[in-house]
Amino acid sequence: MFDHIIARDSSTNPITITPIAEGDFQSWLSDQSETTKAWVAANGYEAKRGAQLALPGTNGAFGSVLIGYVDDAKAIWDFAGLPASLPEGVYGLSASISDNAALYEKAALGLYLGGYRFDRYRKDDGKKDKRAKIALHNNEAAKRAENVARGIGLARDLINIPANDMGPAELEAAARTLGDEFGAKVSAIVGEDLLKQNFPAIHTVGYGSDRDPRLIDLVWGDANAPKITLVGKGVCFDTGGYDLKPSSNMLLMKKDMGGSAQVLGLARMIMAANLPVRLRVLIPAVENMVSGRAYRPSDILKTRKGLTVEVGNTDAEGRIVLSDALTEAASENPELVIDFATLTGAARVALGLGLPALFSNDDDLANGLMENGLALNDPMWRLPLWDDYRPQLDSKAADMNNISGSPFGGAIIAALFLDRFAEGAKSWAHIDLMAWNPTDRPGRPTGGEAQGIRAVFKLIEDRFGK
Ligand code: BES
Ligand code: ZN
Ligand code: ZN
Repeated sequence: MFDHIIARDSSTNPITITPIAEGDFQSWLSDQSETTKAWVAANGYEAKRGAQLALPGTNGAFGSVLIGYVDDAKAIWDFAGLPASLPEGVYGLSASISDNAALYEKAALGLYLGGYRFDRYRKDDGKKDKRAKIALHNNEAAKRAENVARGIGLARDLINIPANDMGPAELEAAARTLGDEFGAKVSAIVGEDLLKQNFPAIHTVGYGSDRDPRLIDLVWGDANAPKITLVGKGVCFDTGGYDLKPSSNMLLMKKDMGGSAQVLGLARMIMAANLPVRLRVLIPAVENMVSGRAYRPSDILKTRKGLTVEVGNTDAEGRIVLSDALTEAASENPELVIDFATLTGAARVALGLGLPALFSNDDDLANGLMENGLALNDPMWRLPLWDDYRPQLDSKAADMNNISGSPFGGAIIAALFLDRFAEGAKSWAHIDLMAWNPTDRPGRPTGGEAQGIRAVFKLIEDRFGK
């Protein structure tokens, strides 16, 4: 996935990438030769963050490349433009930043992600071998960056693969492949067995598809270590069901398993780092389709918890499948339950596409995640589990409805629905995210995106790490 990154050792003789802190540009320049000063001036170069300038070497050869950066949370992205724009060759960061581990890690992560592409459905353009290679030192910072990048890359790939090749069965296969790599146990409860084992809500939503619904269950680590359970919405395609989505809204709905992609990417980071935790990943994987078997508006369905739910809208399917998974997650009384879900359009109206909404019953957890998010440029923003709105989920016919009669506060309403099922969990966070980049930016191409998992990974490392 990241074959543009190679290992650097004493025999590597890379073209130098010289990072220049934006604020240090003048002092850097004053130390340069007259020729370099003239070249820099002729190019109007000022080492603004992310700005690159190639310096000529002797006899017309490529000399080195300058890259401007600011050493803050966003430094990652300052380096991310390099892999796609450098000409063929082998490059390496100058010694000036290899002593600064935190900065080296950010630079390395940007250099990894800058080479991410989703090209498995395109014929080889013949340019693959001609791509610039970046040689990274074999240090802790580079290893951490690699681990994080591989988790993010996995999440992006799973989202980008279209629904015809990423149904519930393929999502299960992806979890099994990941589990095999790290010695995790992966099982799945499929189709009719969901009813036998009391996961009726997952079954009801998934029954409308020819592709069997399932609950994917990955378990890894020492059974006696602190328990962490991640839950991810795995709606492999969301047509909206009978309350059908308009075509423009349906177009992107292969990404409705984006929550499950986050938790698998995050699980990869945790397992590869060998954190001393007992990790469990639960993914209700379904397709929300229309058919003679599909559930209808006004149906009343059962949940694992025993609560009945009246279906106000079949397009609010994510909360229904998550309800059974959260009940199961909370039943083990883990230290932490975190769910990721592309749950509501309303969260996007409130916060935009780049800022996931965070809900939690635990202020410490919420504050920790907000802080990490800002520090790592992997942000999320807390919204309240506003008690006053709970009655909006009341139903006359059942224990609750899956939607509110009001069009306002939809992300909060959805979170309050989940809260009924996460009730027993002592520390629970729910992250309502987009999982998609609408535009191309360096290191962040249009398509599936990891959001919030670096922030959660750091929190788990800090709390439970060795
Ligand atoms: N998967 C969608 C939510 C979604 C849409 C997330 C677009 C990100 C971008 C979810 O299943 C859904 O359709 N929710 C409805 C709920 C409504 C019917 C109460 C929504 O948000 O419109
Ligand atoms: Zn929906
Ligand atoms: Zn959905």
